[in-house]
Amino acid sequence: MNASKEDARSWLGNAQSIAVLTGAGVSAESGIPTFRGAGGLWRNFRAEDLATPEAFAENPDLVREWYQWRRAAVRKAAPNPAHYALAKLERCKRGFLLITQNVDDLHERAGSRNVAKLHGAIMIDRCIQCQREREAGDQDNCECGGRLRPGVVWFGEALPEREFLRAAAAVEKCDVLLVVGTSAVVYPAAGLIPSATFHRAKVIEVNLEETPFSANVDCSLRGLAGEILPDLLPDS
Ligand code: OAD
Repeated sequence: MNASKEDARSWLGNAQSIAVLTGAGVSAESGIPTFRGAGGLWRNFRAEDLATPEAFAENPDLVREWYQWRRAAVRKAAPNPAHYALAKLERCKRGFLLITQNVDDLHERAGSRNVAKLHGAIMIDRCIQCQREREAGDQDNCECGGRLRPGVVWFGEALPEREFLRAAAAVEKCDVLLVVGTSAVVYPAAGLIPSATFHRAKVIEVNLEETPFSANVDCSLRGLAGEILPDLLPDS
């Protein structure tokens, strides 16, 4: 059964503990392109073509150029009403974890504090040799001579263990999982959605389009995150 927006609002209001899973759609209204769907391609490449260790080994200049383009979009962007609504929701609840697949920093800039970043941070570079991290700049190489790479998780790489364990634990004990702006096709992040259902949480999905989980969640809301989320806040 697809419950109403009013039901979703009351679940959020009554919940002791909330987990939120966000994806690129939450930053789309801030002008940061998504990976899939309309406007989701850079030139003719898919994320799966560029966001891999193999692509970086074969063509580091191309991969770096893609990241510089994405970093420029993040620098220009500001949080939108969806980011602000999630930061406000966190302030109303004791048990709250925002789990994001996004590598931008818009949740933090909107005021979210308890954030598990499953796919790393795009504004960080890491040396593939000495592993030292630094703010991303124009340099290609570390002082040690190693090549610098973006501090993000690529396809085929493991997620940061601590972040994923925090996310999995929050999903197992939450009363409500709110899933926003993710196509829910990239694992293990997408696996958090059936995990919440298995652990008897209510699952609310906010997305412009249908996802593989839309038919199974408790409430699937179609539309812009920046319009729907402010309206879902318990006291609004
Ligand atoms: P995707 O680009 O796959 O999906 C974005 C989702 O957001 C789609 O389902 C859209 O329908 C939805 N959407 C777009 N604009 C929206 C809006 N204004 N309001 C609500 N929904 C909106 O992005 P992710 O699911 O985040 O990983 O992608 C998952 C991972 O795949 C990324 O973290 C990245 C990527 O490759 C890595 O690079 C490892």
